Amino acid sequence: MTGTTTTPGATGRPRPAVVRTRGELRDALTSWALTGPDATDRRAVVMTMGALHDGHLRLVRRAREEAGETGQVVVTIFVNPLQFGAGEDLEAYPRDLDGDVDKLASVGADLVFAPTPDVVYPDGDPVVRVSAGRFGEVLEGEHRPGHMDGVLTVVLKLLHLTRPDVALFGEKDAQQLLAVRRMVRDLDLDVEVVGVPTVREPDGLAMSSRNAYLSDDERRLALALSRALRAGADAADAGHGADDVRAAASGILEGAAGVDVDYLALVDPATVGPVPADHRGPALLLVAARVGTTRLIDNQAVEVAAPGEPAGREDDTAGQEAHRD
Ligand code: PAF
Repeated sequence: MTGTTTTPGATGRPRPAVVRTRGELRDALTSWALTGPDATDRRAVVMTMGALHDGHLRLVRRAREEAGETGQVVVTIFVNPLQFGAGEDLEAYPRDLDGDVDKLASVGADLVFAPTPDVVYPDGDPVVRVSAGRFGEVLEGEHRPGHMDGVLTVVLKLLHLTRPDVALFGEKDAQQLLAVRRMVRDLDLDVEVVGVPTVREPDGLAMSSRNAYLSDDERRLALALSRALRAGADAADAGHGADDVRAAASGILEGAAGVDVDYLALVDPATVGPVPADHRGPALLLVAARVGTTRLIDNQAVEVAAPGEPAGREDDTAGQEAHRD
């Protein structure tokens, strides 16, 4: 499925072209620039590993808003081997390019870049990589060593290849978003990073491509993650301090048989370090757990108020609003 087709999607736009090679991508980006976008139009990129769900589609809709009507919305679909550890689900990760392109047609993406590993890594595993530093050592990093370095390395490469004005990432992968923002700042990358709120199922489960692995029973157990986050956020809203917020969330997880918790942490979004007991202000409550063989992550922004002062709360992840880095 390569090249532009003209079958219109539900948006009235042509079905997105799918390009697989660096040359095809370069040609598609250049030809958009030559077709005379408006001065305010931009190129917006959404990076994914495919198996798209409504959370991804929300990112793409937001990308259209950022790009402008005649701007260019590019979606990358690449299951990046570099961010999977030994024994993880690289081979099993769901792949459905045709289905993904159908979904992208419904939300008005212009271009899909779906390279194979040899296109992204033509010399095999890269010798020079991005280090996420402390953003890659804690939380996810403790349980998935090297994961965040692999993410940042491919994100940097995809930024170079697609040359966006704005790149959009889901707040569900909060640590990833914080690490990408930090890379953009630390390495002076000329791109705006926009975080987009997590999309949840009506019962609270955060949307994730890995939800497809869950049996009905496991899916029911998995609700403990979002319930724990809500309990923590409710405690913060009621004016409780950091320790009580953590305790409220962990109380839910402790009572959840079949949910094997990797971590539950209340961190400062600027440092990803744990907040002290006397912390006041924004914090991020994060959880990772295994349900059966499926590893799930979720997070919730909380506002820890001074004692006796109930705090307001953002609906989603703290400190992750759009800003130009
Ligand atoms: O969030 C993801 O799907 C991936 O980590 C990303 C950003 C596409 C890099 O492979």
